This record gives sequence, structure tokens and C-alpha cells, in this order.
Amino acid sequence: MKNLKVPFAPIRFSNSTLYLLDQRKLPVHEIWVPCRSSHAVWKAIRTMVVRGAPAIGVAAGYGLYLGIHSFHGTREGFLKKLRAQAAYLDSARPTARNLAYAVERIVHRVATSKERHVPKLRDLVLQEAKDIHTDDILICRSIGKYGSKLFKPGSRILTHCNAGGLATSGYGTALAVFFAMKEKKIPFFVYVDETRPLLQGARLTAWELFKSKIPSTLICDNMAASLMRAGKINGVVVGADRIAMNGDTANKIGTYGVAVLAHAHKIPFYIAAPSTTFDLKTKTGKDIPIEERPHSEVSEMNGKRLAPKGMKIFNPSFDVTPHSYISGIITEAGVLRRPFKRSIKTIQQLLRDGVQ
Ligand code: MRU
Repeated sequence: MKNLKVPFAPIRFSNSTLYLLDQRKLPVHEIWVPCRSSHAVWKAIRTMVVRGAPAIGVAAGYGLYLGIHSFHGTREGFLKKLRAQAAYLDSARPTARNLAYAVERIVHRVATSKERHVPKLRDLVLQEAKDIHTDDILICRSIGKYGSKLFKPGSRILTHCNAGGLATSGYGTALAVFFAMKEKKIPFFVYVDETRPLLQGARLTAWELFKSKIPSTLICDNMAASLMRAGKINGVVVGADRIAMNGDTANKIGTYGVAVLAHAHKIPFYIAAPSTTFDLKTKTGKDIPIEERPHSEVSEMNGKRLAPKGMKIFNPSFDVTPHSYISGIITEAGVLRRPFKRSIKTIQQLLRDGVQ
């Protein structure tokens, strides 16, 4: 992989081992988890050692290589195993489109090559996984470039969950906007939603912004409304896990509430996401599968019970923000505006033609 500088790279690959920065342990401990099999990568994605839509896609790409790197046999046998491993890795988490994108891209690369020599096919898989990794960094930088033009000096911007370096290959999507504004020396301020139940805002976004010396304040999720009413927030930017073709966007649970609040207070609400998050097969948000996670994430914290034993719990990990609440979608090819049905189609075409 080319040496592209990023602030918070959570994924490294060397000597047939994928190293993942354990995001469950941050910000207290910086521990790297080695994964040497596709099962280890599947488990790391499922248990959120690695999380964030683009990051789980990148990890799955390497996971796919680990799933076939000791395969010997025919090209046909190789493809069969590759497809089975791709489906397996894709089953780790259902909502983020980038996971399916990464494994589908690698399968397509191999299936369309004329190569019959299996060791060369294995190399092809690894090369494609590395390309997905590098592409993600370049894409996020481009998102930062476009997003940084949207906010005036002195803006006070709210973000939800973590769409930072940790959620990608290192530069982020929503946080790419902040990193780019800082690089351009534009003064601004960030409010960070803590993001219950797993506190990706408090643990991860706060960590990235604090380390980057970006002026920011952590708030509880239920404080955003009164801050907006008091005029302390004049922009919102968040990431995305899957974007339907009409612009409806799935992101971390609570995002929809923030969008409704922003709409009520006439505050622009932006999604920042790579084109790999758009799902051509999903027409509207109704078709997006929403992951439900273990009840213990709500009823416990750090292994300590918060709620009465036996209490019923509901824990959807994502919600869908209808396109009508979204002011714009910041992509690597520019900022998409309403009507999204049209702008998404146009951008997909431009990207297919290799225009950026
Ligand atoms: O459950 P998580 O932590 O994987 O959810 C992450 C989010 O919802 C992010 O906002 C999204 O993946 C965008 S990351 C650039």
C-alpha cells in the first residue's frame, strides 16, 4: 500500500496478518488485535473491534484474502471458495453498504480476470484489498475538500457517532470535513454527541478531535435540542452506513432525531459519505436492513447492570433519515443536492466514467 499520511489509521496489514486497533478499548487503551483468518476478521467486525462503514469494508477485503490465501486447486474451485467467503464476511453486519461493496468488488475483479494460475489469483485478491484501502483514503480526502467549503469561519457544527479516521482508513468522512477545515486554518468549533448506547462519540470522536487539537465539546445526546434553540449550533455533519437511491440515509441510531431537530431550527444538515455507501439496489430507506444488537449494550455499561434484571430492551443500531431532512450529501465527487434521485444518478454515472 502507498504510504498515504492519515491522522488515525485503525487498520494495518503485514505478513498475512490484519492488525485492527481495538475500538472497544479506546480511549483508555490502544490495543492492536491480530487477525490471521477470515473467521477472526468476521468476529472482529461483528463484535466491533473494527467499526464504521468504510473501515469494516476495508477489513473485510483483507479478511477475504485471509479466507483464500492457503487455497490450492483449480480456478473454478478458487472462485467457489472466494464467493462463499465473501458471503460469510458480508454476514458479519447487515446495515453498512461498504462491507458488501468491498467483497463484491474483489469477487468481480477475480471473476473477470482471465488468469488461471491460482497463486496469481490469490495475489489479485490481496492487491484489490490493498487498492480498496488506498482508495478509501483518497476518497475521504476528497470529501474533506468539498465539505470544508460548506462552512463559514466561526461555524459551530454538531456531529453524531464517529465518522472519523477510526471509522475509515484514517481520514474520516464527517471528520474529514473538520480535518480539512483545520488544514485550511478556518476557525470553527465542534459539538460531539456522546452517542448512546456504545458511546462512539464520547470515546472515539472526542478522542480524535482532542488529539487533533480541534476545539470541541462533548454533550449528551439529549442536549442538542436546547443548544440548537439557544443558537449555539449552526450546522450538522454526520456519516452514513447506507444511502438509498432517493437519498434516504441510514446512520447511527439517533441521527434521525438530530436531523429532525436541525430541520425544526432551520440548521443545515449534511451527510458525508463515499460513493461506496450508495446502494444501487435500495430504492428508499424502507428497504435498508437495520441491525439489532445485543440487549446488554443498553442494559449494561462496562459490565455493570444499569436496568432492572429481566427488563425488556430494544436496541436498533441504526435509523433512517428521510431525504427531505438532508441539505446535501458530501461525496468524493462533490456535494449532492436535492432532488437526490437525480443527483445520485448523475454522480454514479460520473464516477463510472472516471470523472472526479
Ligand atoms: O455501529 P458503528 O459504530 O459501526 O456505526 C458507525 C456509524 O454509524 C457511522 O456514522 C458510519 O458508519 C459512518 S463512518 C464514516
